[in-house]
Amino acid sequence: MIYYPLSTLMLAGIRDILLISTPDDAPQFVKLLGDGSQFGIQLSYAVQEKPAGLAQAFLIGEDFLAGESCAMILGDNLFYGGWFRRNLQEAIINASEGCATVFGYYVKDPERFGIMELDHDKNVLSVEEKPAHPKSNYCITGLYVYDGRVSEFAKQLKPSSRNELEITDLNRLYLEDGTLRAQVLGRGFAWMDMGTVDSLMEAAVFVETVQNRQGVVISAPEEIAYHEKWIGREELLVAAARYGNSPYGEHLRRVSEDRFLV
Ligand code: G1P
Repeated sequence: MIYYPLSTLMLAGIRDILLISTPDDAPQFVKLLGDGSQFGIQLSYAVQEKPAGLAQAFLIGEDFLAGESCAMILGDNLFYGGWFRRNLQEAIINASEGCATVFGYYVKDPERFGIMELDHDKNVLSVEEKPAHPKSNYCITGLYVYDGRVSEFAKQLKPSSRNELEITDLNRLYLEDGTLRAQVLGRGFAWMDMGTVDSLMEAAVFVETVQNRQGVVISAPEEIAYHEKWIGREELLVAAARYGNSPYGEHLRRVSEDRFLV
């Protein structure tokens, strides 16, 4: 599952990545992903001791960020759609201009998510975390792009009633600062969170359907790295060998023959 968010960051051209996880899970990620060189990226790791909120990532990662702009993606989020790379690149430009960008997605159950209210020009009017009476159906998805001030903003946050530093409160600080922008991921785009058994099953069926239909693999980091020329053919084949005769290894070997140019 970690390959999905990782691939999304890689598609945005981000190669320096800090993976924050629980004390129990972090060592497993280190074992699975190592230093990231097999994907042509640099992976670092940090631990969040307790589930004290998403915005704490910018305190934990303050030294790593060193005042630079950044993107954060939640480990259980899947983004899939043709124009997404362009969306992300626009957000990264926004960040270089001192703005934050959130990505909205129309959902039928807005009470479950962070929600933003938008005007006709897609300006953000308000943001609320899991509102009992949502002002819109536009969920704020689990991908956020911020400018270099994000850790400073995060330091101003106070824990919410559920004792977490809320990402929505951080976004509200940007809103009040006049520097929160929104992009809406429209119809034809798939966004899924895989945080419940049902949503995990739905995402699995979606991925299986597209993969089986097209014979592609959604979110293969080695494939992205190869197409971006971050790794060469030899490194791709070494990676393929690591997966043996499994369908994933077979896929990477096909990629090395340039039979997947999507
Ligand atoms: C978190 C955020 C929420 C956002 C959601 C997206 O919710 O707090 O604002 O809409 O991720 O997946 P959680 O998954 O922690 O309930």
